[in-house]
Amino acid sequence: MFSLLGFFVVCPVDRVLKFNQGVITLTSSSERLTIRQPDDWHVHLRDGPILKAVVESTARVFRRAIVMPNLNPPIKSIDAAVAYRERILESLPTGVSFTPLMTAYLTDNFPEDVLERGYIEDVFSAAKLYPAHSTTNSEDGVSDLTVIDSLVETMARIGMPLLIHGEVVDPDIDIFDREAYFIENHLSPLLNRHPDLRVVLEHITTEQAVEFVEGSGSNVAATITPHHLRINRNAMFAGGFRSDFYCLPVAKRERHRLALRRAATSGKACFFLGTDSAPHTRSAKENSCGCAGIFNAPNALESYIEVFEEEGALDYFEAFASEHGPAFYGLPLNTSSLTIVKKTQVVPTFFEVVNATNSIEKILPFHAGETLSWSIELDQ
Ligand code: NCD
Ligand code: ZN
Repeated sequence: MFSLLGFFVVCPVDRVLKFNQGVITLTSSSERLTIRQPDDWHVHLRDGPILKAVVESTARVFRRAIVMPNLNPPIKSIDAAVAYRERILESLPTGVSFTPLMTAYLTDNFPEDVLERGYIEDVFSAAKLYPAHSTTNSEDGVSDLTVIDSLVETMARIGMPLLIHGEVVDPDIDIFDREAYFIENHLSPLLNRHPDLRVVLEHITTEQAVEFVEGSGSNVAATITPHHLRINRNAMFAGGFRSDFYCLPVAKRERHRLALRRAATSGKACFFLGTDSAPHTRSAKENSCGCAGIFNAPNALESYIEVFEEEGALDYFEAFASEHGPAFYGLPLNTSSLTIVKKTQVVPTFFEVVNATNSIEKILPFHAGETLSWSIELDQ
């Protein structure tokens, strides 16, 4: 058996979220906020023991999620996506309604007919572009955007969203400049070639990305993570090297974090919630070549809402968390609701994964051990 029990029991099986059905009206006071149930438009749920350990953190809060395909091996076929979706559904706690939206992992020679059929048959909600060697399990990714131009043309024709990890991998380009460089030299030309292509620039980290998305048409949007709203690059080096804050794209300077906070809380439809929750075990992160990724799913919503409160933008929180994403993807809004109350909580210091050999590994969540000022209301 696999267990999600960390240092604290986060959500025992008999405590499930209370969701009201029907038309939602936003009720808000400084102490309590009821919003349409949110979705997570970018999450890594992994597979096997880690999937079983982490899926509840996402599914207890989010009604749907765009699930990243960078497994090992990646999701490159309709059958693989269907089987992975099944494994996710089988891992859900009883009584939780959660819809995983699957994505295809693009390669230099991904068959166009498979991509088109997967989208038409509602297996693939989108396709994910990882520049080869840009991040976790991206070795099979795309070597150059021009190589998949005809595939992209098909996507533009059928309206299939292209989700982009927007970084170059050239070692001559400074790691803190790789997103801006990608936008200028690869994304902008791509959109010039395919002006109607629907693009989500994922987990943006720079003011250049904010400006690019704001200056594009309604076919271009971006997801913003909680961690990029909360930390800048100094977090990785506070008193020593802190791998818990290492993710890709890496957090940038403070002025970029502030630009992201302005974008997320602006009420603009081109920005929406995507946690990029990316769990790795301690041993995988504390390593001479540690993995990139921050596991924020357990408290992502509470982390975001503090940002909106600090920015005086609670009125826009529901739009960012629950409305802009479905509008971009052309999906119905959720009809269930969720209440967040102004009540402090201490974030667990770790979660446990029981792996295939029955040994226990830890995964540290974002905000581990910190006190957050909002809590999601649970059915007692
Ligand atoms: C992600 C992962 O570990 O799968 N890591 C991360 O730092 N965000 C991959 C990704 O989205 O880059
Ligand atoms: Zn990701």
